[in-house]
Amino acid sequence: MRIFTFLTFVLLLIHQSFSLSRPQCHSCEQTSCNCSGQNLTTVPAAPSKLITQLDLSCNELRTIMKDDFAAFASLRSLIMNNNSIQKIHEQAFVPLTNLEKLDLSFNKLEMLSAGWFENLVSLQHLNLLGNKYKMLGQGNLFQPLKKLKTLYFGGPELQSVRKSDFSGLSGLEEVVFDGKNLKDYKRGSLREVGPVKYVTLGLNGPFKENQVLAETILSDVVHPNTTLTFTDTRFTKDTYMSPFRAAYHGGTTSVIFKNVVMTISAFLAFMNWMSDSRLSMVTLEDSKLVLRLSGGMSFPSSMGHLEAIVVKNVDVPAFYLFPALIGDESLLPVLRRVTVQKCKVYLLPCESAATLTRLEYLDFSDNLITDMALSNIMCNGDSDFRLLQTINISRNYLHSINSQLFTKLNELKNIDMSGNIFHKMPDICYWPPSLHFLNLSSTRLTKVTTCLPVSLRVLDLSDNDLTVFNIELPSLTDLYICGNKISHLPDGGLYPSVVFVSIQNNNLHTISSKSLNDYNSLTSLEAGANTFVCSCDFIAFMTTGWTNHRVTIGDEFKSYICESPDSTRGKSALDARLSVFECHTALAFSLLCSGILLVFLLVAGLCHKFSVLWYMKMTWAWLRAKRKPKLKKGELEYDAFVSYSDMDSGWVETYLVPELEQAEPPLQLCLHKRDFVPGGWILDNIMDAIEKSHRTLFVLSQHFIRSEWCKYELDYTHFRLFDQNDDTVVLILLEPIDKDTIPKKFCKLRRVMNSRTYLEWPDDDGQIPRFWHSLRTAIKRPETDHKDHLEFDNTDV
Ligand SMILES: *[C@@H]1O[C@H](CO)[C@@H](O)[C@H](O)[C@H]1NC(C)=O
Ligand SMILES: *[C@@H]1O[C@H](CO)[C@@H](O)[C@H](O)[C@H]1NC(C)=O
Ligand SMILES: *[C@@H]1O[C@H](CO)[C@@H](O)[C@H](O)[C@H]1NC(C)=O
Ligand SMILES: *[C@@H]1O[C@H](CO)[C@@H](O)[C@H](O)[C@H]1NC(C)=O
Ligand SMILES: *[C@@H]1O[C@H](CO)[C@@H](O)[C@H](O)[C@H]1NC(C)=O
Ligand SMILES: *[C@@H]1O[C@H](CO)[C@@H](O)[C@H](O)[C@H]1NC(C)=O
Repeated sequence: MRIFTFLTFVLLLIHQSFSLSRPQCHSCEQTSCNCSGQNLTTVPAAPSKLITQLDLSCNELRTIMKDDFAAFASLRSLIMNNNSIQKIHEQAFVPLTNLEKLDLSFNKLEMLSAGWFENLVSLQHLNLLGNKYKMLGQGNLFQPLKKLKTLYFGGPELQSVRKSDFSGLSGLEEVVFDGKNLKDYKRGSLREVGPVKYVTLGLNGPFKENQVLAETILSDVVHPNTTLTFTDTRFTKDTYMSPFRAAYHGGTTSVIFKNVVMTISAFLAFMNWMSDSRLSMVTLEDSKLVLRLSGGMSFPSSMGHLEAIVVKNVDVPAFYLFPALIGDESLLPVLRRVTVQKCKVYLLPCESAATLTRLEYLDFSDNLITDMALSNIMCNGDSDFRLLQTINISRNYLHSINSQLFTKLNELKNIDMSGNIFHKMPDICYWPPSLHFLNLSSTRLTKVTTCLPVSLRVLDLSDNDLTVFNIELPSLTDLYICGNKISHLPDGGLYPSVVFVSIQNNNLHTISSKSLNDYNSLTSLEAGANTFVCSCDFIAFMTTGWTNHRVTIGDEFKSYICESPDSTRGKSALDARLSVFECHTALAFSLLCSGILLVFLLVAGLCHKFSVLWYMKMTWAWLRAKRKPKLKKGELEYDAFVSYSDMDSGWVETYLVPELEQAEPPLQLCLHKRDFVPGGWILDNIMDAIEKSHRTLFVLSQHFIRSEWCKYELDYTHFRLFDQNDDTVVLILLEPIDKDTIPKKFCKLRRVMNSRTYLEWPDDDGQIPRFWHSLRTAIKRPETDHKDHLEFDNTDV
C-alpha cells in the first residue's frame, strides 16, 4: 500500500514537472494565441481548450513531442514556420482532427512521415516549403488529405518526385512547387491531381541544367485554365526557355514571372515559343529585366490571342532602351490591355503608341511621365486609341490637367489622374462626352471649377485641399471627397443622381436630416472623422435619426467623434450626452418659471388655508400693543367691552345694554357700534377698547363664531390671556354651541370654555334676573385692590 502511494506521488510529480516545464504564451486572446518570435523551445501550454489558432512561428522549436498538442484539440490553424524543427513524433498531430491549416515551412525536417497526416482529415492548407527533405516521404504521403486545397512543397534539398507522391489528392486549387535543385521527376506525377487553377514553379536548377526535366514538369501542370507562375528563377539564356514548348502545347493562357531575372532575349525566346499559342496574358512582376541581347531581336510571328501585358515593379537597369522593345509592330497591334506600373517609364513615343490600335486599357501609373511625355503618348490629342476606355496615369509627374489630349477618344470612360500635382484646374475643359469616371484624388487641388464634366458618374476628389464642393453634376452617382477641408455637406440639389457620398475626414460640423433630404437618390453616406459640433440636434439625429432614414451610414458609427463642445470632445456622437438646459433652453426655462409660479401659488394657497396672513396681522397688532404702557385700574374708561356679532346686536341692544347701563350703579359698556372712533383701523379700535375696559364680554353664538372681526377681538384677548394670565374674560352663551364647531385657531377659547364656567342665557324667563345678577357681579370693578373673584360658581345659572 505504501509503495502504491509512493508511486502515485512520483507519478504526480512527474506529471507536474511536465506541465510545469511547458512555457506560457503571453499573447493569447480568447481563441487564438500568437506566440510568434518568443524564443520558445517547446510548445507552450494551452490556455484553454478553445484555442483554434496557434502561431508558433519564428521560435526555437526543435522537436515536436507526442503530447505537445494533446490540449489543442480545437485547433484549426497551426503555424510553425521558421523554427528549427527536426523531428515530429509520428502521433503528434493525432488530436488535430479539426486542423485546416498547417505551416511547417522553413524548418529542418529531413524526413516527412505519412503518420503525421493520418488524422488531419480536415486539412485544407499545407505548407512544407524550405525544409531539408530529399523526398516526399515514402510515398502516398498526402493520401489522407481528401480536403486539401493548397499544397506548398519542396525546398533546396528536394531531389526527386515520384508518381505515388500525390496519389489521393484531388480538388487542389493551388500548388507551389519549389524544385530549384530537383534532379528526378517521374512523368505524370503532378498530372495525378488534375488541373489546378494556380501553379507556381520555382525550377531554377532544371531550367538551367535540365530543360527536359523542366519541360516534363510543365507538361504535367499545363492546362488552359491554369495560371502558371514562375518564380525565383534566372532566365538568362534563350536556351533555358525551351520547356515552354509544353506550355504552348498545353494551351496555357496566362503566364506570370515573379521575382525572376530575365534577359530581353530570353523573354523574346519565351514569346517565340508561345508564338501562335493561346497565350492571352503575360505578367512580369517584382523582377529584373536585363537588356542583354544575344544575336538580333526576333519577334514572334503571331500572338493572335495575346490581350494583356502586365509589367509591375520591374527594374530595367538601362530603362531608357525599354520603349524600343515594345515598339514591335507584330506584338503591339493585338494588345487590348497594357499595364506598365512602377517601372520608371518616362516616355512612350507617339509612333509606338500609335500602333496600339486595339488598346482598351492603358495603365502607366507610378512612373515618371510628365505633361510633355503624356502629350507625346497621346500624340497631342490625335492618338489612334479609338477603343481606349480606361487610362491610368496616376502617380506620375503631371502638373496640369490637359483635357484636350482626350477629347477625341469617343470610348474613353475612365481617367485616373490621382497622385499628380495639379494645384488648380482650368475653368473650362474638353472631355469626351463618354467620360464617366474621373479620379483626381491627392492632386492638391484647392478649388473645383466647371472643368468637371457633366457626364461624370464617379468622381474622386479625396485628399485635396478643397473647402467647398459646389459644381452641378446631374449624372453623378458616387462622390468621394474625403480628406479635404469642406465644412458643409454639398448642396444635394446639385447632385440629383448621387447614391453614395464619402466625405470623411473633412471639417463638417453637422449632418442633419434636412440636408440629407436634399439629395434625391442618396442611400449611403460615409462621414466619420469630421470635426463635429455635437449640438443637441446632431446628437439626436445620430442616435435616432438614422433608424428610419432613407440614407444609411456606410462607415462605422464610432468614427463620428465630437470636436466640441468641450464636455463632449473626443466622445463618439452616440455616447455624448448634453444636459437638458443645453438641449431645450426655451422649454427648460418655461418649465422652471411654471415651477416657480406653482410653488408661489401653493404657498399662497397654504397661507390662505392656514390663515397665515391673519396670524401675521395679529402678531403685529399684538406687538404694537405690547409696547404701549398698560393702563392702571383707575384709568380704565369702561367696565366692559362687549364683543358680539352684528347678528346678535338685537339682543345686546334690547337686553344687555339697558339692563347693565341703567342699573344701579350703572356700568359703563363699550360697544363697537357706538364707541369706536370712526375711521380708525378696526383692530386698533378693538385693542384700544379692550385695553381701556375692565372686562371683555364675549357674547357667544353661532354668529359670533362665524363673524370675522369678532375673531380679532377674541384673538387679541387670546394673546392677552396668554400674556398676563388674568381673568378679564367673561363669556355669555346666547345659545348652546358645540365646542367642536369652534375653529381650531381659537384653541384658547375652547380651553377657556372647558376650564371656566360661562353664563348661559336662560330659556326660562324666571331665571333671567339671576343671570343679570351674575353678570353684574362678574363685571363689577372691585373697590379694593384684591385679586378679582369671579363668581362663576354654578354651571346651571
Ligand atoms: C503573429 O504576429 C506576427 C508579428 O508579431 C505577425 O507577423 C503574424 O501575422 C501574426 N500571426 C497571426 C496568425 O496573426
Ligand atoms: C529572443 O532572443 C533574442 C536573442 O537572444 C533576444 O534579443 C530577444 O529579446 C528574445 N526575445 C524574447 C521575446 O525573449
Ligand atoms: C523564414 O525563413 C525564410 C528563409 O530563411 C525567410 O526568407 C523568411 O523571411 C522567414 N520568414 C519569416 C516570417 O521570418
Ligand atoms: C475552364 O473554366 C471554365 C469556367 O471557369 C469552364 O467553363 C471550362 O470548362 C474550363 N475549361 C476546361 C478545359 O476545363
Ligand atoms: C490605377 O493604378 C493604381 C495603382 O497604381 C490603382 O490603385 C488604381 O485603382 C488604378 N485605377 C484604375 C481606374 O484602374
Ligand atoms: C482613386 O485613386 C486612389 C489612388 O490611386 C485610389 O486609392 C482610389 O481608390 C481611387 N478611387 C476610386 C473611386 O477608384
